[in-house]
Amino acid sequence: MADILLGLKEFSVTFFFILYYWIQAIVLAFIPASWRAKDVAGETVLVTGAGSGIGRLIALRFARLGCRLVLWDVNEKGNEETAKQIKALGSYVKTYKIDLSDRDAIYSVAAKTKEEAGDVDILTKEEVGDVDILVNNAGIVTGKKFLNCPDSMIQKTFEVNTLAHFWTCKAFLPGMMERNHGHIVNIASSAGYLGVNGLADYCASKFAAVGFDESMRFELEMMGKEVKTTVVCPFYINTGMFDGAKTRWPFILPILEPEDTVNKIVDAVLCNQHIVMLPKSLYLFMALKGVVSTKVLALICLYFGASNSMDDFKGRQKKIE
Ligand SMILES: NC(=O)c1ccc[n+]([C@@H]2O[C@H](COP(=O)([O-])OP(=O)(O)OC[C@H]3O[C@@H](n4cnc5c(N)ncnc54)[C@H](O)[C@@H]3O)[C@@H](O)[C@H]2O)c1
Repeated sequence: MADILLGLKEFSVTFFFILYYWIQAIVLAFIPASWRAKDVAGETVLVTGAGSGIGRLIALRFARLGCRLVLWDVNEKGNEETAKQIKALGSYVKTYKIDLSDRDAIYSVAAKTKEEAGDVDILTKEEVGDVDILVNNAGIVTGKKFLNCPDSMIQKTFEVNTLAHFWTCKAFLPGMMERNHGHIVNIASSAGYLGVNGLADYCASKFAAVGFDESMRFELEMMGKEVKTTVVCPFYINTGMFDGAKTRWPFILPILEPEDTVNKIVDAVLCNQHIVMLPKSLYLFMALKGVVSTKVLALICLYFGASNSMDDFKGRQKKIE
């Protein structure tokens, strides 16, 4: 009898909180991000892949919010250009050249970052050396049908798009946990929720990044830690990485503009939002995926053009600067 009562109590409490969080999510959706945003001024933000695209714009937005920036990229020239733009805003910035497909390099540059980022007269070593917000943004795409993907590219795609997240988190999460303060942002993709014709290695690497983020969030929540995570799942963005990729219904699934996308991403981080899908219509597609048959899903993907979206893919034609 006591067991039944305990079970009933647990069920009622769980049911109450399900309703509570559900209503909370609906209410919060109507409150502007600027009213709910946390203050990140003075925090240290590390952005990987900061040398171009949305990584550069994310870094600039955090600099405008008064953060100190640490930029990691394999592309030294692009990274220095981002740093130049951040310096022009009067913000602190430090750059590191790094190949994120190399685990040892990540650990050694992470150690260097913690040590050297303190080389600033007005700030103490600890203040700058501890990363408060880690943005795992760097990513690559092969853009070929599975059997045409070279093994080396499949491997590299996983190293950069997925495994690098594990190693950067191993390097910086302990510091965040110790201070009970921090935020990890994993830039995945809508291709991390829905498989796409012609993107097998990319999709698999992004599915893994989404799974990593979700598991880590549950782990941190169960430990009662105030370290937040946000996983970002955008449709195609007009940065050059997916040049040639197309959409059939731009009103429903538009190719996103980088500035607007980054504003939404950073707003979501400031509001501690867990999952960001852009455009919002993706939430509907993901919900449908859970309830329709695979044949219906295939028809929906064909009708909305997702299945042919990579047919004219060219990718970045010009070297990033
Ligand atoms: N562009 C899109 O359509 C799109 C859509 C959804 C998700 N995303 C994701 O957004 C993120 C940023 O994409 P973007 O469009 O800004 O691309 P981008 O190509 O403009 O930027 C990627 C950056 O990562 C860096 N990088 C690549 N490999 C690296 C390595 N081995 N080591 C260190 N740095 C490396 C590049 O030098 C570059 O500066 C990626 O993770 C991408 O998968 C992009």
